[in-house]
Amino acid sequence: MNNTDVEHYLALAREAARKAYCPYSGFHVGCVLLGQDGEIFKGCNIESCAYAPSICAERTAAASAIVQGVSAWKAVFVVSPTRVSPCGVCRQFLYEFAPGLHVYVGYLDASIESATSLDTTAKSYLGPITLADLLPGSDSLQQSALGHKR
Ligand code: THU
Repeated sequence: MNNTDVEHYLALAREAARKAYCPYSGFHVGCVLLGQDGEIFKGCNIESCAYAPSICAERTAAASAIVQGVSAWKAVFVVSPTRVSPCGVCRQFLYEFAPGLHVYVGYLDASIESATSLDTTAKSYLGPITLADLLPGSDSLQQSALGHKR
């Protein structure tokens, strides 16, 4: 995946972030989950005044993909105000389907990196980071008796 491709998917993730329902945190997160055959699934965070039922952008995208019959994914692109990596719950959720998933994280504000870096050739995003690298030891659960699928 080249730089232009990554920037394209990050731009789509920024569109998704505009749909975020985040009146409590004010932290808009958008996501694009890319299927193995190039399918695109968008996600945004959705919060609740009860807080705990809130869901992250990554899991809304994953749920959308699954319900549309696509559970083989090659990459996820996440944008947020501070370029956060997927949370622990999302890492585990995504790992169930795609341990080799490539994770890219970028800023919600597409211009933020050029404003903070003198090196104009520097990438504005981090990645690819393999999901398995973000979740060390996670294969042990899948390989245990608990990971046995009925
Ligand atoms: N959030 C995401 O949607 N994805 C992440 O990777 C990190 C956090 C959301 C959850 C909550 O709505 C807000 O960002 C603040 O944590």
